[in-house]
Amino acid sequence: MAHLLVTGGAGYVGSHGLRALLRAGHTAVVVDDLRRGWRDLAGGAPLAEIDMGDRAALEQVFAERGPFDGVLHFAAYALVGESVADPMAYYRNNTVASATLIETALAHGANAFVLSSSAAVYGEPRQQPIPESTPRAPVNPYGASKAMVERMLEDTGSALGLRWMALRYFNACGADPEGGIGERHEPETHLIPNALGAAAGARDAFRLFGTDYDTPDGTCIRDYIHVTDLGDAHVRAIEALLGGHPSGAYNLGTGAGHSNREVLAAVEKGVGRAVPVVEAPRRAGDPPVLIADASRFQREFDWHPRYSDLETIVATAWEWFSNPG
Ligand code: UFG
Repeated sequence: MAHLLVTGGAGYVGSHGLRALLRAGHTAVVVDDLRRGWRDLAGGAPLAEIDMGDRAALEQVFAERGPFDGVLHFAAYALVGESVADPMAYYRNNTVASATLIETALAHGANAFVLSSSAAVYGEPRQQPIPESTPRAPVNPYGASKAMVERMLEDTGSALGLRWMALRYFNACGADPEGGIGERHEPETHLIPNALGAAAGARDAFRLFGTDYDTPDGTCIRDYIHVTDLGDAHVRAIEALLGGHPSGAYNLGTGAGHSNREVLAAVEKGVGRAVPVVEAPRRAGDPPVLIADASRFQREFDWHPRYSDLETIVATAWEWFSNPG
């Protein structure tokens, strides 16, 4: 069993990854400054409440709570619109802080590194589903901030022997079926929680951004992957790296796309209430279609999403929305 450093373990995907790692029998220390994370989501592991970009504080965590066999790096800002408005916050928090983390991990012999990357590194590729061989061509600072970290991993891997995986998530969604953790963003910008909020009457009508895309029903298409399936993928990734598996970048998705209207229909069905919808202009920076070719990770690691059908996604998200821990 491994002893792992988990950054961002108090965040949405990080808390599910942490839970999966602990369930698999590993031990972990969480690094999270709680700027975007929530203390109660990081249950089950000690929390070092530090800014990951603070080299001295990070050094102390490695020295006092290590040695670590590996690092799972979930901590990041992840809002495309915000990254356009405040790019340097993204380069500082996502890119520069990751450089500090990679250097510190290497200095302390933690040679296995799993990065939370994103479909945003691809930009707006024409080929769908998107294979990993598609060149990185991010179209916003968020995607660029992640693409640069991937490049750092490639280069440190070649030069210094770091073994790494970049897991490019498509649309993370849902909540752990066992409860207690789920999606909590402030402000919330994502489709499913916003649709649930509108169905529950907790917010005004759902604003549907763009109905004139070149897609069958005019709305954007995304590949929704349940966050518990993402957690499971992280366990497989770090265990494989620790077992000597070569480094690489992998898509994490299902390979199936759902339009925004389809997701809204699934929410209405799952919740048993209407979602009041207001059609609004396109949101800047939204690619029309993003679907993963997720076959590589599935094949190499025998990973098969178990919760990523829309019905289960909506049911677990609704359970969390109705009873948030
Ligand atoms: N949408 C609406 N109304 C809302 C919220 C979303 O119509 O209130 C639409 C969006 O315009 C988009 C689709 O629903 O067409 C999905 O939007 P999300 O915000 O849920 O997800 P994104 O695909 O924009 O974002 C995902 C990740 C981000 C990541 C991004 C990179 O959730 O963290 O992919 O491309 F940055």
